[in-house]
Amino acid sequence: MKRNYYFAAAAACVLSVLLSGCQRTDSGESARLQAGVACYNQSDVFISELTEALREELEGLESRGVTATLTLKDAAGSQRTQDDQVKELIDEGCNVLCVNLVDRTDPSEIIDLARENDVPIIFFNREPVAEDLMQWSGLYYVGADAEQSGIMQGQLAAQAIQEEGNLVDRNRDGVIQYVVLEGEAGHQDAIIRTEKAVDTLKSQGISLEKLSYGVANWNRAQAENRMTQMIGEHQNRIELVLANNDAMALGAMDAYRKLNITEATFPVFFGIDGTREGLQAIVDSRMAGTVYNDKEGQAKAMAELAAALILGEGMEDISFEKEKYLYLPYEKITRDNVEEYLDR
Ligand code: GAL
Repeated sequence: MKRNYYFAAAAACVLSVLLSGCQRTDSGESARLQAGVACYNQSDVFISELTEALREELEGLESRGVTATLTLKDAAGSQRTQDDQVKELIDEGCNVLCVNLVDRTDPSEIIDLARENDVPIIFFNREPVAEDLMQWSGLYYVGADAEQSGIMQGQLAAQAIQEEGNLVDRNRDGVIQYVVLEGEAGHQDAIIRTEKAVDTLKSQGISLEKLSYGVANWNRAQAENRMTQMIGEHQNRIELVLANNDAMALGAMDAYRKLNITEATFPVFFGIDGTREGLQAIVDSRMAGTVYNDKEGQAKAMAELAAALILGEGMEDISFEKEKYLYLPYEKITRDNVEEYLDR
């Protein structure tokens, strides 16, 4: 009788593992992951889409025996607020922190708090400087390579100019008059994207004339404002708009629309991110191209790393760069392949 009981229990156990594919803690309980997510600003479109993807990925960990909860805090642009929020997250019992720094050069207070309480941090999207990440072994970064996104934007623009010639170079002077809409000063993705996009265009033999630039902090309304000013200064001379992200490219288009400028004299617009609205603008042929900032890939990498950290196993299966960094590749999107990205 007793033997049968043990046999039945063992069989049930094997069956449940086979059915669920689960990894359980030693006690057989599912492991608890309480993720504290601190964002620099939830009104940032890409960040809100990224945290949505992270929520889904964390839910998906259930099938691996990890029950995850997510508590989200929005610093609304203040590093001081974020420092306090991280303390609250730790006090509330979070056992992994995902931090999207407000000021990427100022993570010391957060790192000290996390280290004192032995709670690892996955920084994401806003990359701390290397020395800061070296301060403690429990610090990681998940993001993407800014340089690659700039190169890809430059390649997309070069291709459009080479293929569509006079449609872009409307005054047919053999030079492309362009403006740039830049993200926050000091952000790893702003300056580098601009530089690399422009270098790539030049390396493809395209002659350029920079008419102007505006800093619009990743924000659609600010970009509309800057673009309205630039249109005022340069009227219909602007042939190309390189925006460091989709939200700002959309803001630039808003400016043209609101000024009732005829579409035939619109410049060609390029963004980066592939947000929902950005993709729609490509479907509608309002934006010529964008570069996919793989939020699902980044969210998955964060969820898997968080799970490995609390389970204490699986770290060896993660391919880090320099033991701490995970960079997800960017992808080019045009009208030709946009459909593939719509249902992600
Ligand atoms: C960039 C993204 C921008 C903005 C920024 C915030 O990677 O392209 O749209 O979200 O991060 O840090």
